[in-house]
Amino acid sequence: MQIERIIHSQGFGSRKECRALIRAGLVSIDGQVVDKPHMEFPVDDLVFEVEGEAWRYRPKAYLMMHKPGGCECSHQPQFHPSIYGLLPWPVVQRGVQSVGRLDQDTTRLILFSDDGQFIHTWSSGKKRIPKVYQAVLAEAPTEALVDHLLAGVQLHDEPEPVHAVACRITGERRIELTVTEGKYHMVKRMIAGVGGHVVQLHRQQIGGLSIPPDLLEGEWCWLEDEQAAALANWVVP
Ligand code: URA
Repeated sequence: MQIERIIHSQGFGSRKECRALIRAGLVSIDGQVVDKPHMEFPVDDLVFEVEGEAWRYRPKAYLMMHKPGGCECSHQPQFHPSIYGLLPWPVVQRGVQSVGRLDQDTTRLILFSDDGQFIHTWSSGKKRIPKVYQAVLAEAPTEALVDHLLAGVQLHDEPEPVHAVACRITGERRIELTVTEGKYHMVKRMIAGVGGHVVQLHRQQIGGLSIPPDLLEGEWCWLEDEQAAALANWVVP
């Protein structure tokens, strides 16, 4: 593929802007400046540098972030900074979207991609993909609250009760629950529906994927093959 097309496909601007970057000598491969926009390179495992920063060619982008609190999963946030401000500009520019959304104050695991099919699969409730949340409650949880979440909660605007597929008390004011649907404010509304109040909510896991311990709040990383495999390797409890 021509280097101009490669750089463009990876989010480094319009074709014209990419051509300008190349002609300015800001793109290199294997330590050699590539200043001719029409030079061809095989894209498999290609690593290129733009302004000294190394990037691997990726036909599609799949990434995960350790979402901090206080940011909105929107390109046009209303009250808090956008989560997209935490991603490098070429990644945003190539059109990645979050896979579903977390509330501004919900933290931890969120996925992003520019692959529409992937976004649809992993955000739709149809596949019943388990998502594990840790909720810190205002009051100590009781076994009755846990049983109620497992039995199902009738939410205001839903035709059927929604239920946790797993739920347990994990601390003095903590529960861990697994849901397989993705309705608006679902976990907070479920807990409110059984008389509890969430003061903090963290998403621990999607499918078989959890945040690696070294991925700190606000950081992101590419989903490499083993993480993509972990994601798809799940069982409904
Ligand atoms: N459920 C909620 O209530 N909030 C989230 O951010 C995610 C799930």
